[in-house]
Amino acid sequence: MCGIVGAIAARPVAGILLEGLRRLEYRGYDSAGMAVLDQGQISRLRRIGKVQALADACEQQPLAGHLGIAHTRWATHGKPSEQNAHPHMSGERLAVVHNGIIENFEPLKRDLQQQGYTFTSETDTEVVAHLLDQELQHGLTLVEALRQTMTQLEGAFALGVIHADLPEQLLTARKGSPLVIGVGIGENFIASDQLALLPVTDRFMFLEDGDIAVLEADQIRVLDAQGQAVERAVTTFEHGQASAEKGEFRHFMLKEIYEQPRVMQAVLEGRVASGHLLEQAFGSEASAIFDQVKQVQIVACGTSYHAGMVAKYWIEELVGIPCMVEVASEFRYRPVVLPEGTLLLTLSQSGETADSLAALREVKDRVLATLAICNVPGSSLVRESDISLMTNAGPEIGVASTKAFTSQLVALMLTTIALGRRHGLGRDKEAELIAALEQLPVLLQQLLALDGPIEAMSAHFAEKHHALFLGRNVLYPVAMEGALKLKEISYIHAEAYPAGELKHGPLALVDKDMPVIAVAPRNGMLDKLKANLQEVRARGGELFVFAGCEESIQPEEGVHVIHLPAMPQVLDPIAFTLPLQLLSYHVAVLKGTDVDQPRNLAKSVTVE
Ligand code: F6R
Repeated sequence: MCGIVGAIAARPVAGILLEGLRRLEYRGYDSAGMAVLDQGQISRLRRIGKVQALADACEQQPLAGHLGIAHTRWATHGKPSEQNAHPHMSGERLAVVHNGIIENFEPLKRDLQQQGYTFTSETDTEVVAHLLDQELQHGLTLVEALRQTMTQLEGAFALGVIHADLPEQLLTARKGSPLVIGVGIGENFIASDQLALLPVTDRFMFLEDGDIAVLEADQIRVLDAQGQAVERAVTTFEHGQASAEKGEFRHFMLKEIYEQPRVMQAVLEGRVASGHLLEQAFGSEASAIFDQVKQVQIVACGTSYHAGMVAKYWIEELVGIPCMVEVASEFRYRPVVLPEGTLLLTLSQSGETADSLAALREVKDRVLATLAICNVPGSSLVRESDISLMTNAGPEIGVASTKAFTSQLVALMLTTIALGRRHGLGRDKEAELIAALEQLPVLLQQLLALDGPIEAMSAHFAEKHHALFLGRNVLYPVAMEGALKLKEISYIHAEAYPAGELKHGPLALVDKDMPVIAVAPRNGMLDKLKANLQEVRARGGELFVFAGCEESIQPEEGVHVIHLPAMPQVLDPIAFTLPLQLLSYHVAVLKGTDVDQPRNLAKSVTVE
């Protein structure tokens, strides 16, 4: 994934680059580096580890200069090491930072080696630096060299390039990887994400695939994939900068869990009025599209995939049309059958997830229409879909997704209502569902009051190595999400099962060292779930139950119960998620892991 940032300004840029990298650490954090042009020379500093290691090095060895590029890495080609850290250089006068993957780097590297280029890293990026140099040797300008180089690259990339002979220019290009230009006053910037640049600007320009931009301190020139000069719109950042700060919270993840009552309001705002959905929120073409939908195909990854699984239960129950859900990395590579009238619904917090984007591109011409539910306006997924609905959750910094998931669920319920209108979901039912959604801010506030008991419960997990999560029906995907949260931030191996599957295999694992977490709402499946829980108790397994009402399940020896407040049943998937988020959070804190930046992960997975 990696994060890139670059700046050209009248003031020294090293501090701007470092702050930008800190804000991009969610994209990867195994090494960091920067290259700054000062008095005709490029100075480069690289360090293994987090951005702080680079910041410490910059204290020892300050980098002056008004033009620079910087990078925080998530290793794909070559282990985390100083040699593999970006920026990469060709000679002493050209430096490059790259986010993405150059798929054909091996043949390119062989060719370059045959022509005498020496490689100092194992990365795919270094070929870009040498290809640029090769084109410059052929007499091209740097912009021409960049265009020529881009034609040779297969894969996805966002690039930042500086050259010691061009102290007034920062070059950038993108194809398939995210990149924004930050528009300042007498200074301009590039970054993988707007968040990186919020301290210096709130005005942003998004590049299209294949664009090259030349940034000078007081102008930006953009050339499209055909080399034609084009204008790209400048937009103002919508969320308050405060969202990118941790405030009084110990971790971003905890802050983002606590933001959920407010986020529930934000996702509903402007979308519902007087008990009705305002369908225009999906865009002016949405109504005509919804009229023709005969089935829905949802495609997403990770947490967003779990949200999609919840939607399958809702759409098939409340709309009565088929809904298929698949992880994007599988969907994109198989010959999928898409019956006539299919709405392709992609779900993504970032809108830049490589597999989800590829899935969209793969089939967009074969479906009725494409709908993106996404948290980042202007992201690739949103731009490339016919219609979209923003989740309005605000920037999510913690690598483990929390508020993005619950806001996706609300957006999915709004989508269910829009489709349901065409399939017999009456006005009364619509009003009932919306009234339930409107209770969410208060309900989630009440759920946050369970933080203390959940923290106490977390102590039982600190020494455990495995955990099982059980749910039935619409809470099965919620159990999956609970297991994902626990494994990614506490490194406890956790799996989720539909409770009815327990006796078909996983029960063999249950003993006193295998805590079993169950989500048990008050609905028709409760008695069946209770029977499954008995199966666990009978094998000595310790149970941790989140129960939907007082009467349903009582604590006893080996059975720990946290009761949730009463709520409309349709809210179960959203409401039961929050306690599971808190449980994972507290277990991770007890285990002392890096909650916001768990090992080996990155927030925005813009590579395959
Ligand atoms: C887990 C998590 C990931 C993401 C996945 C998809 O907490 O955050 O599983 O959900 O990488 O990312 P988006 O939603 O940005 O497409």
